[in-house]
Amino acid sequence: MARINNHFRKLVAGYLFPEIARRVERFEERNPDARLIRLGIGDVVLPLPESVCEAMRLAVDELGSDEGFRGYPPDQGYAFLREAIARGEYGSRGVEIAPDEIFVSDGSKCDSANFQEIFAAAARIAVPDPVYPVYVESNVMAGRTGSADDDGRFGGVVYLPCTEETGFLPEPPDEPVDVVYLCSPSNPTGAAADRERLAAWVAYARDAGAVLLYDGAYSAYIRDERLPRTIYEIPDAREVAVEFRSYSKSAGFTGVRCGFVVVPREVCGTAPDGTRVPLGELWLRRHTTKFNGVSYPVQAGAAATHTERGQIEVRSHVEYYLHNAKLVREGLGELGLDVFGGVNAPYVWARTPAGTGSWDFFDQLLELAHVVVTPGAGFGACGEGYFRVSAFGRREQVEEAVERIRTKVRV
Ligand code: MLT
Repeated sequence: MARINNHFRKLVAGYLFPEIARRVERFEERNPDARLIRLGIGDVVLPLPESVCEAMRLAVDELGSDEGFRGYPPDQGYAFLREAIARGEYGSRGVEIAPDEIFVSDGSKCDSANFQEIFAAAARIAVPDPVYPVYVESNVMAGRTGSADDDGRFGGVVYLPCTEETGFLPEPPDEPVDVVYLCSPSNPTGAAADRERLAAWVAYARDAGAVLLYDGAYSAYIRDERLPRTIYEIPDAREVAVEFRSYSKSAGFTGVRCGFVVVPREVCGTAPDGTRVPLGELWLRRHTTKFNGVSYPVQAGAAATHTERGQIEVRSHVEYYLHNAKLVREGLGELGLDVFGGVNAPYVWARTPAGTGSWDFFDQLLELAHVVVTPGAGFGACGEGYFRVSAFGRREQVEEAVERIRTKVRV
């Protein structure tokens, strides 16, 4: 008898984005002529930067030649990419990260879902609320939680409310936990943490013996120079923080797939006998068994984003989406809605009008304006009463979406 992992069945609702897709599909069946504008899932629309395409083409040609052919990539990723990351993303900001502390991967979703495997089944986790669902659901699947209550909160998980009072970012709890997920700029609230807040988290983690899993997938969107672009700009973060980074939202790699994890040598977990074990060793061990790396053309394309030309192209992508975010912020603000985020992030977080429920407002926007957003409640109990608008759309679509909401929806 093939017994299943019954923890999966605690995930009563489907993953948020397929659930939205199902609702949209039903709407389209009923309204085949509707011209939908999709600002729900954060999927990019601009084509790959030219420097990336060139590097990938060259890499494919190399693979097609006797001299240039390569088989399995190195476990942690090609040195040329890890060196470019260490220099471009960290060294340039005065942060020392060694290439052998970097693990190239096929993206942050997988990394942030998989990293929990190296912690004990009994490890206590804390997550922001609202939260990127992957952090919670991967722990549910691993059996690290109880069942969900009526608000969708899983037993045993410490939820950190992100409300207007907390600046839509989590604050350290007054109890110890083992692992904390942080995301800045935040998906979904679009708020970006300042130094003081991250320093408070580093202090908490050192005190509690916790590890911070810091998702910096949107760090390229930070425009305010006072805000840290990486958690390692905070003193002592190397002792307690693992950082996830991605090329998806900066260089348009949502389909190409590439990201990386930084695991500094100092960051450790504790074995049952009290031995301190570097997490990098465990992550490498996990990597070598379960992952065969990212293809050479993709790593070559990723490396191109760290060149001077690549940086200019990435910056122009980011500026494009940030301008979209500004249009959404201003447009919704003019309608009298309370809007947050979207300044150092590609997501705008807005309060629904007159206390309308998130899913109800999602339906109204879909039915009346034919605009798809993401209901805040899909990200957690504290997201109820909010919705998220993704700035990852074509300019004309974003403008039209704002106009349709203005003219067709009562707010
Ligand atoms: C989102 O819309 O939240 C993102 O697309 C999630 C992701 O990058 O997986």
